[in-house]
Amino acid sequence: MTKKHACPTYPHFLHGADYNPEQWLHDKSIWDEDMRLLQLANCNELSVGIFSWSTLEPQEGQYDFSFLDETIERIGKAGGKVILATPSGARPRWLAEKYPEVLRVGPDGVREHFRARHNHCPTSPVYREKVRKINSLLAQRYGNNDTVVAWHISNEYGGQCRCELCTNAFRDYLRKKFDGDIEKLNRAYWTTFWSHNYDSFDQIEPPGDHTEVAVHGLNLDWRRFVTEQTISFIENETAPIREHSPHLPVTINMMFEFYDLDYHKVSRVIDIASWDSYPEWHSGDDAIMAEKTAFWHDLYRSLKDRPFLLMESTPSLVNWKPYNKLKAPGLDVLSSMQAVAHGSDSVQYFQWRKSRGSSEKFHGAVVSHDGTEHTRVFRSVQETGRLLKQLDQITGTLTNAKAAVIFDWENMWALDDCQGYAQHDKKYFDTCYAYHRQFWQRGIDCDIVSPKADLSRYQIVVAPMLYLVDEETARNLEGYVRGGGNLYGTYMLGTVDETDLCHLGGIPGLGLRQVFGILAEEIDTLYPHDRQHAQLDGQLHELVDYCEVIHPEGAKVLATYDDGWYKGSPALTVNHYGAGKAYYQTCRDSGSLADRAFTEILQELGMDTLLDMPGILPHGLTAHSRTDGEYTYLFVENYDGTATYEVPLKNEMTDLLTGESVSKVTLPPYGLAVLKSK
Ligand code: GAL
Ligand code: ZN
Repeated sequence: MTKKHACPTYPHFLHGADYNPEQWLHDKSIWDEDMRLLQLANCNELSVGIFSWSTLEPQEGQYDFSFLDETIERIGKAGGKVILATPSGARPRWLAEKYPEVLRVGPDGVREHFRARHNHCPTSPVYREKVRKINSLLAQRYGNNDTVVAWHISNEYGGQCRCELCTNAFRDYLRKKFDGDIEKLNRAYWTTFWSHNYDSFDQIEPPGDHTEVAVHGLNLDWRRFVTEQTISFIENETAPIREHSPHLPVTINMMFEFYDLDYHKVSRVIDIASWDSYPEWHSGDDAIMAEKTAFWHDLYRSLKDRPFLLMESTPSLVNWKPYNKLKAPGLDVLSSMQAVAHGSDSVQYFQWRKSRGSSEKFHGAVVSHDGTEHTRVFRSVQETGRLLKQLDQITGTLTNAKAAVIFDWENMWALDDCQGYAQHDKKYFDTCYAYHRQFWQRGIDCDIVSPKADLSRYQIVVAPMLYLVDEETARNLEGYVRGGGNLYGTYMLGTVDETDLCHLGGIPGLGLRQVFGILAEEIDTLYPHDRQHAQLDGQLHELVDYCEVIHPEGAKVLATYDDGWYKGSPALTVNHYGAGKAYYQTCRDSGSLADRAFTEILQELGMDTLLDMPGILPHGLTAHSRTDGEYTYLFVENYDGTATYEVPLKNEMTDLLTGESVSKVTLPPYGLAVLKSK
């Protein structure tokens, strides 16, 4: 194993922020100050041009790159690097006025006026051409500039357009998928139901406020189409960039709990995964928040199977949540380093300097409206910068996770759309978090992967609520277990196929019934106030939301229901299949059933941490590691805001922050230790 730097063009930690000097063209003293403060803040990177189109092309075909020329030159002179953006996330007014087709049509069928951002039509040939033109000019001008280390394509892709162009493209997408045979589509979508059969592809409309929404296969394919259309938009954007600067990596900034795009697919067309992380710290238990955030760090690392970039975070607060709370002292540094612990090669902020006006003027920034370095937030950024310099040897190191949780957008879309279960709150995210927490709370590294990923490197794989299972996924799961893997599935697994048709002949479908050695017959959805119980090893564990009633067909029963008419029937089973084992949890538990089950399973697999603290760690304490194959870097993090922990290590390690050799570390509230050993 060697290193794989997120940004091979700059094999160090990037520490920087989104930067908008075009807002201060009238006052160059601000530009001077920015460069003085950049160095003082221990920052070495700025992301520029993200929303600069109206400055770069104030009128159609009239280009003016002077602001960008000067900005990049100044950053370079100050010893910094630039991640250069393409401006397609928002367009100039002239473009929207002259070519209304670039504006998005909403679910109500109404075309938007020029406003806001992140709202272009992804199909519009005019928009694609205009974007391609300006991107070509940017790539030709800056693609070989030494200060530029990567491309930031557009900003936070998302949303859907239902204009005529998109509708036609959707019809073409379906024509291709169903070989031009409308009867194939009708069968795959079960359209005889309510007499919704289509006679031709031209009758198909995207699901919306006044159009078809009852055909679930259609809804699912619409979402798939939106992903594919976005991918094709990205490919159009990046073509000139790849042509003129083939050596520069390309990223898009992705998001937390993002619903609209299947990032497993989108990641195909980018080189680096990066994301914007804005956890709601102090809104409840910070340990829970830390675990949820960790899930997304793990997912973005797993997407490209290499270090990622934390593209945005706030050094203090955001301005767009219902309540915009500050981060307590210490938590800013810890939450920045959390990304690094999970495989990030950067800590970047939104934003460098607070804008003076408009909607984000109260959003946290490295430099506030006072314009100085004399703030708590600035000092905290300085501290993170100091740590990153100290830890530079860690950039490019990898995470060698032996556990994985399957997370799948298509599954989530199908599950949420289906009428049944707990109608409006299926809790897919929360269920995935709950299983990821089994590893997080024990300090065991975990990947978040697609059901189609190569699973052979994992000792254990969890498939929470994997309702949609197609042939490829079924083969993948079966092969994994047959080859010696440990698969942990739950209720609802393998219920429907690729177009949301139920599997016939007993579920889990497509042969997984044999893998798990069970037949799932019925599922009982509990009312929110219901509590039931399961018995495992003589102890009772609380159950909520779902109890599936299953029959073992070869599987061994590990836990049973303790209430109601299905008392005594299985709550947890295990089946030996091939060289592996398949566990099946039939119910949603409040935590303790899975805690107990995973304690056993992980012990049996010999999976633990470098901490000399077996089992579940004290509240808020966790550990993660990175490695280059020779050295291991261990991050120990404390998200408890009041407790101090003495943490013993299994072996002597070097404390990289003090340089000392230690056999234990002391972590104050929101404390962090970074350790190294062979
Ligand atoms: C992000 C976005 C930034 C900024 C930030 C504020 O989602 O990419 O441009 O708006 O949120 O938190
Ligand atoms: Zn459109």
